[in-house]
Amino acid sequence: MWKGRFTQDTSSLVQQFGESVSYDWRLFPHDIAGSIAHARAQKHAGLLTEGEFSAIESGLLAIRSDIEEGRFEFKTSLEDIHMNIESELTKRIGAAGAKLHTARSRNDQVATDTRLYVRSQIDSLSTAIRGLQRALLDRADLYADAVMPGYTHLQRGQPVTAGHHFLAYVEMLERDVARLSDCRKRVNVSPLGSGALAGSTINLDRLAIANELGFDSVTTNSMDAIADRDYIAEILFVISLCGVHLSRLSEDLILWCSAEFGFAALADAHTTGSSLMPQKKNPDVCELTRGKTGRLLGNLVALLTTVKGLPLTYNRDLQEDKEPLFDSIDTLHLSLAVNTEMISAMTMRLDRCAAAAADPMLLATDLADYLVKKGVPFRHAHELVGKAVAESIATSIPLDQLELSKISEHYGSDTAEIFQLQRALLARTNPGCPNPLIVKQQIERWKNHLAE
Ligand code: ARG
Repeated sequence: MWKGRFTQDTSSLVQQFGESVSYDWRLFPHDIAGSIAHARAQKHAGLLTEGEFSAIESGLLAIRSDIEEGRFEFKTSLEDIHMNIESELTKRIGAAGAKLHTARSRNDQVATDTRLYVRSQIDSLSTAIRGLQRALLDRADLYADAVMPGYTHLQRGQPVTAGHHFLAYVEMLERDVARLSDCRKRVNVSPLGSGALAGSTINLDRLAIANELGFDSVTTNSMDAIADRDYIAEILFVISLCGVHLSRLSEDLILWCSAEFGFAALADAHTTGSSLMPQKKNPDVCELTRGKTGRLLGNLVALLTTVKGLPLTYNRDLQEDKEPLFDSIDTLHLSLAVNTEMISAMTMRLDRCAAAAADPMLLATDLADYLVKKGVPFRHAHELVGKAVAESIATSIPLDQLELSKISEHYGSDTAEIFQLQRALLARTNPGCPNPLIVKQQIERWKNHLAE
């Protein structure tokens, strides 16, 4: 493609070192869409005849089918997907193919292709996250009333319901969807026409090209448009954070499935056995989800590190943007799919949840609130309940069976009802609380929202 200036062939080691077609081939549908839009603008500018344009268009569409059907031979000697397609087109249709690269550079071409690719992945990832939200919502609905302990510091804190716990993850994933859609706005801008870095003396209609490709607008600085990889950093961050959410969910499930907690069970289809210990049923999907989050974070840092020292505009370093991008997208897609299937089939062990939630210590804070309602300042109430807790531990008499009135005259004869779990949950009437009535309203709200 640049033979004019050179007298030697590129060394085969350099070819091996510099090729990207082994992984950027997946940009082909976007590369072809971009080229067709570019060629149409060339036709409108009088640079191509109607006949030349149709030869280019049908040639590119035929190449697309060949790639889709595995009939296309990619050549590493042609470096990347862009040159593979252009060279094959020219081979097939002759002179018209050689006109396609007029007023374009691989620099604006690769930026265009990558933006189109990221845009389509944003859409499919959003759909996949919605699927996982629905699976979690379905579990929340099934276990809306199932009382279980809520934890801080992985120590039992206060009672919640399994429904409330599942909905916490639905909320997190909703923020991921919102971040994807926000990121999409900055992705969906056309850099085509920025050329190598300084536009072109051949002025094609950038807006028409952008329109055809479904972009919302065109970039407004050719140098920035060529050098910019912010949209890749953004999508990698959004994916990382979504991965972190899945990793936290995994950790909860791993704990819940242990003999020590015993709150949940995963289906056989979503667990693995041990080659040695016959009794084992391991939550490998959760562990792999948690483990793969390391790769997602690594890919984000790799991209930021690649970009950080680069002068404007294009530097070949930027070719290193693609493998982290593709890896994170593939990893998140697969994690979402397998977690959706696994969550849809998991069950809560209600007896174990209820037994753990029956610990009266979970309502120690409610007991302090009781004293506050009798006029005791909270710090003093906290201390009084703390003393009762200490006595319960020392005597092994459960907190709800102590003679509290002996500890303080502020305790009345009505303390027993503080230890009724349902009453305790229903007493929380503010938005966002694990009151089963409020949780059910939330479930209805999510059902409507996720049905859209
Ligand atoms: N394969 C290249 C990349 O991904 C395309 C752009 C090449 N541009 C260049 N000036 N060598 O970055």
